[in-house]
Amino acid sequence: MAELKEVDPELVLSLKEKLVAPETDITERYRVLFSLRNVKGDVAREALVESLNNPSALFRHDVCFCLGQRQEPEAIAILAAILKDSNEHPMVRHEAGEALGAIGTPECLPPLMQYADDPVLEVAETCQLALQKMQYLEEHPDANNEESPYYSVDPTPALPASTPVSELKDILLNEEQRMFDRYSALFALRNKGGKEAVNVLTEVFKARSALIKHEVAYVLGQMMDKHGTENLLKVLRDPKEHAMVRHEAAESLGAFANTATEEVLKEFTQDADPIVAHSCVVALDVLEHEKKGIPYFAGVTNEQVMVQ
Ligand SMILES: [Fe+2]
Ligand SMILES: [Fe+2]
Repeated sequence: MAELKEVDPELVLSLKEKLVAPETDITERYRVLFSLRNVKGDVAREALVESLNNPSALFRHDVCFCLGQRQEPEAIAILAAILKDSNEHPMVRHEAGEALGAIGTPECLPPLMQYADDPVLEVAETCQLALQKMQYLEEHPDANNEESPYYSVDPTPALPASTPVSELKDILLNEEQRMFDRYSALFALRNKGGKEAVNVLTEVFKARSALIKHEVAYVLGQMMDKHGTENLLKVLRDPKEHAMVRHEAAESLGAFANTATEEVLKEFTQDADPIVAHSCVVALDVLEHEKKGIPYFAGVTNEQVMVQ
């Protein structure tokens, strides 16, 4: 279970109000979301669930992400309903599936099985991946205790970081391999770190699956290695790339931007796709906080961040 913090109930209620109020602007709404993600209790979770009425698909997908990271079975029904809703944006359905995989109790199985062959590839692949992970954990009950060095609940465990890069590369880039194995190689490369690992990871951007590309864009942000910058910029600049991948690239760039990349993020706040444009707005806000030494994602429960 993710570590959630006790916070003054009055503060939680005021955050809830801000989270659901239509007039709250996107950067503040995101700060509140990532604050509430780490807050213990029903009120925080209910606030997240209520905020799923928001018109922004980008925001709704991040709410699903947060519900998954909280790992509370109480969120299963709403996540399953989102996964089932074929009118919902594929990126939101994907994140709902991933969240069900992160919660991973037996009740998550039926919806994941039902959509493992969904006509939307990234939704189907997400469900397959979650099912493969759950099966793996059933066969290896101790694997769940292995903490990610990045404190994230990863969609799969990592292969040992001692596995040779060439072996990890073969698994990662092989489109015939199960997504579970490709992801396990992906996280091993992330945990290994360094230029060689980054170079192998960025080769994934030539792959067909938006799912694996979005995960690479995400881990490049976790790694904060400048060797990934050029590839992330290329992804963000490509209007033909899936919004889910461009979104992760923008947010990762926000995590370790320099003056040049900051300019690109500013430019793409005007992108035609609101998912990309809003991702850049949020990324710039993350960057502002990191510059001031306020860790945006690492448990933003201090008032300094919340009330800005
Ligand atoms: Fe995702
Ligand atoms: Fe995302």
